[in-house]
Amino acid sequence: MMNRLPMSVTASTPSFADDTPGRAPGLVLGIESSCDETGVALVHASGQGVPRLEAHALHSQIEMHQAYGGVVPELASRDHIRRVLPLATQVLAAAGRSLAEVDVVAYTRGPGLAGALLVGSGVACALGAALGRPVLGVHHLEGHLLSPFLSADPPEFPFVALLVSGGHTQLMRVDAVGEYQILGETIDDAAGEAFDKSAKLMGLGYPGGPALSRLAETGDPAAFKLPRPLLHSGDLDFSFAGLKTAVLTQARKLGDALESRKPDLAASTQAAIVEVLLKKSMAALRQTGLRRLVVAGGVGANRELRQRLNAACLVARVRVHYPELHLCTDNGAMIAMAAAMRLQSGRAQAGRDYSFDVRPRWPLDAIDT
Ligand code: KG4
Ligand code: ZN
Repeated sequence: MMNRLPMSVTASTPSFADDTPGRAPGLVLGIESSCDETGVALVHASGQGVPRLEAHALHSQIEMHQAYGGVVPELASRDHIRRVLPLATQVLAAAGRSLAEVDVVAYTRGPGLAGALLVGSGVACALGAALGRPVLGVHHLEGHLLSPFLSADPPEFPFVALLVSGGHTQLMRVDAVGEYQILGETIDDAAGEAFDKSAKLMGLGYPGGPALSRLAETGDPAAFKLPRPLLHSGDLDFSFAGLKTAVLTQARKLGDALESRKPDLAASTQAAIVEVLLKKSMAALRQTGLRRLVVAGGVGANRELRQRLNAACLVARVRVHYPELHLCTDNGAMIAMAAAMRLQSGRAQAGRDYSFDVRPRWPLDAIDT
């Protein structure tokens, strides 16, 4: 399929003409391509209010990778190449915008798969150069972290953030855009990984989190005693690697009976993960004295986690915010939003040096480096 972007870039002076730090950036085009989802979005920021999502489009590669039981990086990169421009065209049409109206082009710079990141970065910088507009590389986790600002009821700073994605599990104190203090994090597997690996052991395919949680709905969460690592460690760190071993041991013990007991094993696994996330989040709120919790990342879509957090936060008189369900997993909207908020707050400046690089490994506490 050939796809051409309407490159009529002759007219229109950008509203974001002088790149002044802290100025509302205007119209931000965001591109996400760090793993197995290609996402493109347009966010508009005028003044100091919360930037507004105009349109977004997403292509998930899940079906393509399913045959391999996980993400195949080379296939991911090639598919991003195929999808990114058609998605951009789609988003511009949905917003009733032309490419010439874009003031800043933002892209995910890391962390993620190097080849996949290079696709989004390359396209973003090429577009920026062709349009004569500045570009900004965004930290993928900051995108997740700020994704609840895309909801109808956005949070206010400061807050505690529970960031639970496929590769990361962190509790953070967030005082403002770019001011992130890590309070605790996983010492081995991430919560999403615990869902995915346990699901794989049960033969539930990839990605395991949603499949496991669906199966858990008909199971008994108290059926199997599974470990809750570091639950009483007194700090805010997590450890999930032991859980998958316990699930494997349990599955082996069940033998032929596994098939009929899968819902129970799924429910027990989910209960163990959710309990640890819940207890540590509440401890982080007590420790910081903050009364606001923001949950972000793919595991934030988990219904059991949301129900348990909602109940606990109601008792503790804590406001809890989530991204909209469809924006919990990777998407372009969160990248455009994070870019808009960074520019608006003066934490970052978009640049006209189009010699991009990517950061496949990029700790969030090194975000300014
Ligand atoms: O944030 P994300 O899309 O990608 C990363 O940046 O890693 O998160 C993907 C993770 C996967 O581990 C997936 O299994 C998990 O989020 N996930 C879920 C649910 N939906 C997605 N885990 C549990 N319950 C869900 N409903
Ligand atoms: Zn992600």
